[in-house]
Amino acid sequence: MKAIRVRAFGGPEVMQLEDLPDLHPGPKQAVVRVKAVGVNPTDTYTRAGTSRRPPLPYTPGIDAAGVVESVGEGFTAVGAGARVYLSGSVSGTYGEQALCEEHQVHPLPEKISFAQGGAINVPYVTAYRALFQLAKAKPGEFILVHGATGGVGIAAVQLARAAGMKVIGTGGSEKGRDLVIEQGAHHVLDHRAPNYLDQIQTLTGGRGVDVVLEMLANINLEKDLRILAMYGRIVVIGSRGRIEIDPRDTMVRDASISGMLLFNMTPQETAPIHLALFAGLENGTIRPVIREEISLAEAPRAHREVMEPGAYGKIILIA
Ligand SMILES: NC(=O)c1ccc[n+]([C@@H]2O[C@H](COP(=O)([O-])OP(=O)(O)OC[C@H]3O[C@@H](n4cnc5c(N)ncnc54)[C@H](OP(=O)(O)O)[C@@H]3O)[C@@H](O)[C@H]2O)c1
Repeated sequence: MKAIRVRAFGGPEVMQLEDLPDLHPGPKQAVVRVKAVGVNPTDTYTRAGTSRRPPLPYTPGIDAAGVVESVGEGFTAVGAGARVYLSGSVSGTYGEQALCEEHQVHPLPEKISFAQGGAINVPYVTAYRALFQLAKAKPGEFILVHGATGGVGIAAVQLARAAGMKVIGTGGSEKGRDLVIEQGAHHVLDHRAPNYLDQIQTLTGGRGVDVVLEMLANINLEKDLRILAMYGRIVVIGSRGRIEIDPRDTMVRDASISGMLLFNMTPQETAPIHLALFAGLENGTIRPVIREEISLAEAPRAHREVMEPGAYGKIILIA
């Protein structure tokens, strides 16, 4: 089988398509014929060696979708031939095959394409955890998805709207902002415009937002604290540097800031989220948005693009 290999940490060009031996499942494992791979910013941090550093060489990737090719003894999640999406793998997902443990394989509803299947795990589990489990957002509350045009942001907009929340999203491009409204936000703001957060008071009738899901905390956290309603909650999902805040801004509102990392979650914690996502995929409240589909060999281009401004849903590699 062919797979992307990284032999040294570095820029996107360190990813090369190589021929590897076919994979075979051990006990309680499955081999999945990968059709589509979701590209996440975290794949680029690992490739650069700035976050997790797997032993070299390695095959990148967490998210994918495909068809179960073979199962080992005691693997009961699904049978050979099942359409599935993945939440990680033993082997890496940027390849034609992926070796998976049982908890990494989830059924994919018929009406969801493989490309959409590759866009489920990291974005939607992250958005679900931040919105429902950490912020404990409730119907009727104002939610600001600060960075709503990318993978996690679109997921958060769809989940919040379906749960009866009042959703305000932000985007840096006109095309991206149109998408945020299409996907269910009641209002959208331009996070590149000066003083764009001044509009929050008007949009919320002077109340402020109850919840901020923050994709770039090093730029926004200080401003987020000032637009919160009483008892407001901020969840830090993304941050790429340092920032200074005034802790008094939390005191005057009884506000809280929590952070999250998907990798901190156990399979026991993510399993119920995948069940909720399956229901949403079936009933149409969850609709992963694909910006472009490109070949596995073009993984370096995907890694450059995912870090550039102008997000519009997910970039997918077709295996
Ligand atoms: N904590 C976790 O476990 C976890 C899990 C998943 C992702 N993340 C992190 O969360 C972030 C978003 O992930 P993603 O998959 O959605 O990435 P993505 O698809 O690349 O989207 C990035 C988002 O950030 C927005 N953005 C850019 N400048 C911004 C600004 N000044 N203020 C607010 N938003 C801004 C982009 O908007 P425009 O392009 O429209 O400007 C876009 O909506 C990344 O940093 C990622 O590493 C963390």
